[in-house]
Amino acid sequence: MAAASRARVAHLLRQLQRAACKCPAHSHTYSQAPGFSSSEKTTDYAFEMAVSNIRYGAGVTKEVGMDLQNMGAKNVCLMTDKNLSQLPPVQVVMDSLVKNGINFKVYEDVRVEPTDTSFKDAIEFARKGSFDAYVAVGGGSTIDTCKAANLYASSPHSEFLDYVNAPIGKGKPVSEPLKPLIAVPTTSGTGSETTGVAIFDYECLKVKTGIASRAIKPTLGLIDPLHTLHMPSQVVANSGFDVLCHALESYTALPYHMRSPCPSNPITRPAYQGSNPISDIWAVHALRIVAKYLKRAVRNPDDLEARSNMHLASTFAGIGFGNAGVHLCHGMSYPISGLVKTYKAKDYNVDHPLVPHGLSVVLTSPAVFTFTAQMFPERHLETAEILVCILCLLGADIRTAKIQDAGPVLADALRKFLFDLNVDDGLAAIGYSKADIPALVKGTLPQERVTKLAPRPQSEEDLSALFEASMKLY
Ligand SMILES: NC(=O)c1ccc[n+]([C@@H]2O[C@H](COP(=O)([O-])OP(=O)(O)OC[C@H]3O[C@@H](n4cnc5c(N)ncnc54)[C@H](O)[C@@H]3O)[C@@H](O)[C@H]2O)c1
Ligand SMILES: [Zn+2]
Repeated sequence: MAAASRARVAHLLRQLQRAACKCPAHSHTYSQAPGFSSSEKTTDYAFEMAVSNIRYGAGVTKEVGMDLQNMGAKNVCLMTDKNLSQLPPVQVVMDSLVKNGINFKVYEDVRVEPTDTSFKDAIEFARKGSFDAYVAVGGGSTIDTCKAANLYASSPHSEFLDYVNAPIGKGKPVSEPLKPLIAVPTTSGTGSETTGVAIFDYECLKVKTGIASRAIKPTLGLIDPLHTLHMPSQVVANSGFDVLCHALESYTALPYHMRSPCPSNPITRPAYQGSNPISDIWAVHALRIVAKYLKRAVRNPDDLEARSNMHLASTFAGIGFGNAGVHLCHGMSYPISGLVKTYKAKDYNVDHPLVPHGLSVVLTSPAVFTFTAQMFPERHLETAEILVCILCLLGADIRTAKIQDAGPVLADALRKFLFDLNVDDGLAAIGYSKADIPALVKGTLPQERVTKLAPRPQSEEDLSALFEASMKLY
């Protein structure tokens, strides 16, 4: 290219960048903040949407046997947890496999909120079984465990930490081909059927971390709303809060073109890339459904319309955050669940203390969005408007709220939402006190993969203040 035309292209690119968005988060002023100097040009310029194939329909699970037959699968691993193994969703899958002559083995030892130990147990089962396809029937715990089993069985010489996110693990890119995995979600929360993410509790550090690679996303997600009718109300509520935070965090995340470093090879472009125009669409739509249907879905187990819509919202939000990422609520949630003391969640049929993922995420949301709103006020206000206007909760007209009040307005909308659903009154109600804050902060620091996507950088003091502000909500 001639020098003159190169200069013209560079000029046009600069103009495009400036014209992209005038909100404070995208504005020229903010992009000049420390670490985003335009002279360094270390930020990314592209984003990639990766999504599993999705099939939705009441009763669609019965097709799973035919899908496996169509794939030519001869030896299938069916993964689930002990509770679900006794319930209709697993029975429907097994009936379909038997009817279609598929040979399969069942692994029902998935741990609810998995750990490295439980992942390794499932990996050993998978490595010994030499399976040619996987079916995961359950919530995020089951689908994530199955992704890890598939990955490490397909890469038999790898060490466990090889693919775990840095800095805890080595964060190696996945280059081996994996076997097909069909995910049948039974909760309405994680969106794991769409994402390349598998989360576990790393026991020796008492924090959650995970594996993140587009290569591990399921081949197909079968979204069957009939499974949601079996969910106890607290599982509906907590997994619904996960959808709420996936939508809010991915919509308010740092934009992809402000994330650094810019990968030198597309294989190292992270799954969590920052907010982007395609993820935004899914996030906002998911949020509207949560606002309209979550309360109904929690309160009435027979409300198929509400529960079906929440099942779809979970997938929608998954498509959004699976490519944009999440930020502080999730980063701070990992030590909240990892350091659990004695809290036992109602309606969770497990024998160990547990802070359900969705609860661990939502309890800090009022404090987090109050903190982040100054970098993204329009977006924060827009989400508050969706929550409030659909529910007519506060009686206030958000459209007249001042832009500088975006954080408190969204925080109030969230508090009211949680109060109406009888959610525990902050971290203190689930067993934490001020004395735990240093450990909670320490557990958040290695979660850079998500915390760096927050629109506003945060110091250790900021994190302490956010945990403190989340001790009590109402
Ligand atoms: N991979 C991702 O993208 C992603 C995203 C968010 C969260 N997660 C992870 O997912 C896990 C949480 O998953 P979850 O919230 O879906 O719940 P879960 O898989 O932990 O299940 C929670 C409980 O609900 C029960 N259950 C599930 N479906 C049921 C049904 N239809 N009827 C009756 N009981 C049912 C289970 O047996 C279990 O006791 C956490 O480990 C979290 O970190 C992963
Ligand atoms: Zn989540």
